[in-house]
Amino acid sequence: MFAALWRWLGFGRNPYEEIASETDSQPPRPATPVPAPAALSRSEESTVPAELREDPHPPWSLGGVVSTVDKDRLLDDVIDRLGVYLELAESGPERTFIQGISDAVYRGQLNIPAFPDVARELDALLRHGDPMMTQVVRLVEREPALVQRVWTRASSAEFGGPPKGLHFAISRLGFDDLWRLAIQVCLQSELFRIPGFQSEADHVRDHGLLAADVAAELAGERRGSVYLAGLLHDVGKLMVYRHASVGLMYSSSAPDRVRQLVSELHASLGVMVAREWNLGESVALAMGYHHNPSKAPEDQQRTAWLVRAADIAVHVVDGERHGLLRDPAAALAEIPADWLRGKDPVAVARQAMKEFESQLQ
Ligand SMILES: [Fe+2]
Ligand SMILES: [Fe+2]
Repeated sequence: MFAALWRWLGFGRNPYEEIASETDSQPPRPATPVPAPAALSRSEESTVPAELREDPHPPWSLGGVVSTVDKDRLLDDVIDRLGVYLELAESGPERTFIQGISDAVYRGQLNIPAFPDVARELDALLRHGDPMMTQVVRLVEREPALVQRVWTRASSAEFGGPPKGLHFAISRLGFDDLWRLAIQVCLQSELFRIPGFQSEADHVRDHGLLAADVAAELAGERRGSVYLAGLLHDVGKLMVYRHASVGLMYSSSAPDRVRQLVSELHASLGVMVAREWNLGESVALAMGYHHNPSKAPEDQQRTAWLVRAADIAVHVVDGERHGLLRDPAAALAEIPADWLRGKDPVAVARQAMKEFESQLQ
């Protein structure tokens, strides 16, 4: 399902391919044909298997939270925790891997690609009410990957044929969907390309796409910090995978150690990524506390709870697809009812999955 979803989203092609610059009056001509929406196989249809095996460790229960919102103290805490793992290291490659994360955190240089400028500028533009369409078109034209995605989505069957130009394509989608497409361009970044851990990185990306949709639906906000926090809530895992990719090629103890570090530190590393990308404290802290929002400062809890609800719900639906029964009742009962506005997160996640599927047909 996730691979099909990814192709449907327009990410099936090499993101580094050159795309000819486009104008408003002329439909864009991508360097390679836009991939057709992929059909799901029978096994991927949204049926809940009759018999599910119980999953005793649902993924939403595996993860720490940040120890503090203070930037310097968080840095010290992460380095201290990595120091404990360094002492436990059983091989040279394992030490190299852990030291690599520690050095990056200590230097305050995560060495990650920049957040896409166009996404940031479009977000700022749309915050100030409805902008002039010519301003929006000019902005979108600066990002070939976004032009490609707008064109693909606006040419889908539901619109009955390709639009006459970029201006018309954006009008078809509306500014909310355009905002989402612009934000999703960050998922094409080098950050998500990790040799040796590509399937893990793909899962972080795909899981985030659905969680973002569910969190935004629960919030009743088509765009904004809830969607962004849902999309990137597990991005800290990528920092561990990136260093493991370099340092752990031949270590037999590696997989367990990687899993431990991912579980314990991905929320803290996610906060560092969000701050480096200037995504705002609301997004950063939702990422930092998504495994236990009750520990977040009170005025920052709403976004964290919505991401928590979406995270749980997407894991439940994902589990059903893989024959795993994940009972969310206890975890969902902790979420203050007001934030959910009477909605059932699992039902919202099932609906989100169905909508993706229906567009894939
Ligand atoms: Fe997580
Ligand atoms: Fe998650």
